[in-house]
Amino acid sequence: MGTADNNPPVGIIGGTGLSTLSGLEITAERPVDTPWGQPSSALVEGRLGDQAVVFLARHGNPHRIPPHQVNYRANLQALYDVGVRTVVGVNAVGGIHPDMGPAHIVIPDQIIDYTWGRASTFFEGELDETTHIDFTWPYTRKARELLIAAARDQGLPFSDFGVYGATQGPRLETAAEVLRLERDGCDLVGMTGMPEAALAAELKMNYVCLALVVNHAAGKSDHIITMAEIEAAIDQGMSGIKRILEVSMSG
Ligand code: HPA
Repeated sequence: MGTADNNPPVGIIGGTGLSTLSGLEITAERPVDTPWGQPSSALVEGRLGDQAVVFLARHGNPHRIPPHQVNYRANLQALYDVGVRTVVGVNAVGGIHPDMGPAHIVIPDQIIDYTWGRASTFFEGELDETTHIDFTWPYTRKARELLIAAARDQGLPFSDFGVYGATQGPRLETAAEVLRLERDGCDLVGMTGMPEAALAAELKMNYVCLALVVNHAAGKSDHIITMAEIEAAIDQGMSGIKRILEVSMSG
């Protein structure tokens, strides 16, 4: 996502299946604090190719924080405070679109928020004015193009479009809920896409989602969803996600 050595660092928020980033040449690891509390994990600073990156494990390392209890504000603020202005959010998701089966990679272009009760804005408390950020295009076009070019370059099975339906979890959906998401236009369903994308926008950061489908969404296959299925898809697809990250950073 840049070539020059003095580029500001790119933040990578790793989700399920990506608690650490192998291939990252680590230069520092720091626990940090923010006015919103502690982020999910220490910030791991390093280099991926030519690009300085800061890695943060969304669910903690080891994985222990469920989607509805992630401190999204602290995560974004911590990255912002160390100079990050572009964030790649890596998300494991269920596939609704018929082409988006397990191990398929998606760089979505839209999101619908079905989450509730999450701390989803920095604009609260004593404010000087009310702020309504524009959120027409939740994902930064340039950053999407870089990921898409990297996925294409690597010959990976991927889609360059998709509407991400962000659900509350931590349970998976009913078949009827997935049909409703489909009628709404969702191609993917996940639990961590929001409020992360909106908080990044509030901080005026570039933000992009790199999603790995780890199961057919509920009712979209002839079987119920098992952790074994999810783990198998992660094993199969996460290497592609890492390749896209590496190639897009050095491009
Ligand atoms: N639904 C919601 N979130 C998910 C799923 C799913 O099927 N798979 C991975 N994260």
